[in-house]
Amino acid sequence: MRFDLLTIFPEFFSGPFDFGIVKRARQQNLIEVVVHDLRSFTFDRHHIVDDRPFGGGDGMLLKPEPIFLAVESLLAEGAQLPSEKPAAVVLLSPQGRLFTQAEAVRFACDHSRMILICGRYEGVDERVAEHLITDEISIGDYVLTGGEIPAMVVVDAVTRLLPNVLGSDTSAIHDSFSDGLLDSPHFTRPAQFRDWAVPDVLISGHHAEVAKWRRKAALRKTLLMRPDLLVKAELSDLDRQWLDEFRKTLKPEESFEKD
Ligand SMILES: C[S@@+](CC[C@H](N)C(=O)[O-])C[C@H]1O[C@@H](n2cnc3c(N)ncnc32)[C@H](O)[C@@H]1O
Repeated sequence: MRFDLLTIFPEFFSGPFDFGIVKRARQQNLIEVVVHDLRSFTFDRHHIVDDRPFGGGDGMLLKPEPIFLAVESLLAEGAQLPSEKPAAVVLLSPQGRLFTQAEAVRFACDHSRMILICGRYEGVDERVAEHLITDEISIGDYVLTGGEIPAMVVVDAVTRLLPNVLGSDTSAIHDSFSDGLLDSPHFTRPAQFRDWAVPDVLISGHHAEVAKWRRKAALRKTLLMRPDLLVKAELSDLDRQWLDEFRKTLKPEESFEKD
């Protein structure tokens, strides 16, 4: 996967991709991350990328011309090989579709290139959303000062889903959201820390019992923290039975489920 990041602050990205799994993926050429300065796609002396909004109002907007030019020249320069999957052109925006694990999987599977446009100021001229991009993506219902941090989130989440990026010891299949539930809680040594011991079953060596405990614990944690996920999760009759048992043990203040 090749990631092209379009930003007015290229220095923002010095560092975040130089650690851990993403660094290793770059070193192994499993991903390539290229940062482009939007100002280098301007022709005026001052490299202006923003302007005032028509109709008045606070703040400035990123102009359409440098963004169109940047995306079009990137797409032309990297002429697609027949074997490659199409490029996704993504605008990071609080008004976009919510970025979920399912979206990350979709990008990882369906594309071999992602061009990520980082907005700034009051946002981006709407013609970019209307006529240039394939996806408008939000990382959550809050407003950040720019699209650089959302772009990092997308690069990180997509990268770890690409083939050969995670070792078999850190496979993504048990991660939260992969099967519609949160991940089960995890413990490591020491088995006894202060007054708190890890659940006996986890040190029993009984794999079937451990698997059962993990499924129950994942259901319980999802019920407690994200009951909204249970509506869409694929649940067996036994899962539902366990959930009913958990519900009976919940104190009223622990329940976030809607009636
Ligand atoms: C201050 S925001 C603009 C907010 C815009 N006026 C609005 O209310 O929808 C500036 C830029 O930050 C990025 N941004 C802010 N919050 C975001 C979010 N939740 N998800 C993705 N990008 C975001 C976008 O690229 C956006 O163009």
